[in-house]
Amino acid sequence: MTETALTVQQTARPAGFPTAGHFRFAESPVPEPAPGTALVENLYWSVDPYHREMMDGDFELNAPLEGRTLGRVVASRTPELPEGEIVFHRQGWRTHAVVRREEVRRLPHHAGVPLSAYLSVLGGTGLTAYVALTRIARLREGDDVFVSGAAGGVGTATGRFARLLGAGRLIGSAGSPEKVGYLTEQVGYDAAFDYHTAPVTDLLTASAPDGIDLFVDNVGGDHLGAAIGALRERGRVVRVGTISQYNTPDAPPVVFDHSDVVEKSLRIEGFLVSDHRDAQEELYDFAVPHLRSGALAPDETVVDGFELIVEAFLLMLRGGNTGKTLVRKA
Ligand SMILES: NC(=O)c1ccc[n+]([C@@H]2O[C@H](COP(=O)([O-])OP(=O)(O)OC[C@H]3O[C@@H](n4cnc5c(N)ncnc54)[C@H](OP(=O)(O)O)[C@@H]3O)[C@@H](O)[C@H]2O)c1
Repeated sequence: MTETALTVQQTARPAGFPTAGHFRFAESPVPEPAPGTALVENLYWSVDPYHREMMDGDFELNAPLEGRTLGRVVASRTPELPEGEIVFHRQGWRTHAVVRREEVRRLPHHAGVPLSAYLSVLGGTGLTAYVALTRIARLREGDDVFVSGAAGGVGTATGRFARLLGAGRLIGSAGSPEKVGYLTEQVGYDAAFDYHTAPVTDLLTASAPDGIDLFVDNVGGDHLGAAIGALRERGRVVRVGTISQYNTPDAPPVVFDHSDVVEKSLRIEGFLVSDHRDAQEELYDFAVPHLRSGALAPDETVVDGFELIVEAFLLMLRGGNTGKTLVRKA
């Protein structure tokens, strides 16, 4: 175990894209667990788009940040958290955390499942994709599905789950030709496009000339307007995220034909995964057998070294990731 603990703190509020200058690493002695608590050394950290939203106000300045993380209990003063146990908790962005039993989730032991998957396809990211398709969209066999932000964490999980759940044609959008290739060659999308190359409406029409039944939207903006135009009767939009606006708060509002919503009997519904934690076991039941059989693979960009956590976060915001962005203890 290292002697010094490191904690990332936000030092200033960004206008537009954040930089490394909005953060600092604070050093302190490794904390001692008090009675009833345990000391966890963190092993994997999740960096997420919602952290960018929190930088605008919810993250307190010059204080430890929150984030999903996996760590090992290295010293314990409670029998409920034995040393060596791997736990999930939310005291991310730091090397060490002192936790109480009620603040952690003990990880199930699914043989053959890599630890990182509990922060990617089996974690909040996979749960978001699973809830989007099953509870919100109520995916039907044969539904043609368009996913924006398709090469990211939620987007790759959505594509892989949709395929396993019997979706019809799968269309994805992403930010580079390499990602477009990854979607069709690795993830199982039937068609994909780089949204930088032409108006999204034109690209979507070319990829889905007969329209779509379902749009899973991680991005918002032009993607949302284009998809509403492409939806068939009784089509559904699942609003997952709006990352096209997180760093550009002055972006113009989305333009679409509002009469489409009535005339095509569309349903547009958003959700927060935090309201669906009760689906976690259902996700394990669905996804773990597929992970074990090889029918499902986690898509991850893993950055090695806690000291690179800020870079990993900024990389993700700029689209440098494919799949879920994770940081691993070096
Ligand atoms: N509702 C919920 O409870 C919930 C839970 C988890 C996540 N989310 C949302 O789901 C979305 C995806 O999250 P994630 O964790 O899976 O992140 P991610 O997709 O792995 O990473 C973010 C991606 O956003 C894309 N992006 C950045 N700027 C963009 C822009 N201006 N236009 C289009 N795409 C842009 C980048 O990919 P490109 O290279 O393709 O641009 C980047 O890789 C986010 O909007 C997030 O807030 C919502």
